[in-house]
Amino acid sequence: MAVFISFEGGEGSGKSTQAEILAERLRNSGLAVEFVHEPGSTELGWHVRDILKRGLLGERAISAEAELFLFSAARAELVLKVLQSFLAQPNAVVIADRYVDSTSAYQGYGRGIPIEQVAVVNALATRGAMPCLTFLLDLPPVNGLTRIGDLQLGFRLDDSILYAGEARAQEGARFEDEPLEFHERVRQGYLELVANEPDRFCVIDATLPERRVSELIWDEVCDRFPELTPVMESAN
Ligand code: TYD
Repeated sequence: MAVFISFEGGEGSGKSTQAEILAERLRNSGLAVEFVHEPGSTELGWHVRDILKRGLLGERAISAEAELFLFSAARAELVLKVLQSFLAQPNAVVIADRYVDSTSAYQGYGRGIPIEQVAVVNALATRGAMPCLTFLLDLPPVNGLTRIGDLQLGFRLDDSILYAGEARAQEGARFEDEPLEFHERVRQGYLELVANEPDRFCVIDATLPERRVSELIWDEVCDRFPELTPVMESAN
């Protein structure tokens, strides 16, 4: 069985960067790594991303429940068409940039759908395919949202990547424009998920410098999965 690791966190927590750093490091160690980003990674997943993005142009017309099902529909496809076959491989690693805990945190704690109901939908969508380790990059929402603001300002300084900056701004804006209380609920929700499953989660202080965060993540992966070490050593 492959090792399945997911990354979670609020807006601007640096989780995507850290997920990519870990994937690259594992690949360089000779392991087969499948990287998935939710929603996306399948045709339906890209359509869902597009619908959620386009929903921005009008007022927020998509209900919380529809949003829950959209993310979950994308996940069901991902599990069936991508994850299951990878998870069956030995000496492989699956890294997910967001997975089922995002739905609990955002649609459950953030939007207010009862968490037991979200859990039922999550179980259906995943068919029980759960990460063995989940990194939660935790930081106060105000820090994360400020980071995103600075990033977008940075993009605008260079016209050649203006479009990329705008696209990113629109993609995230569905949630980035929510009031601070929404993001506080998401953060507290994540911490509650950790309290319920302390063994699966590893909480990382995302206010630390990027390099320190990636060291902590690497140490945790090496500690938790000693079975990967021989493969890494034989590649060196
Ligand atoms: P994305 O563009 O992936 O940015 P990032 O992961 O870097 O924040 O944003 C996806 C947004 O969708 C993000 O704000 C979290 C949200 N989301 C949910 O609300 N529920 C989910 O199940 C998932 C996977 C994401």
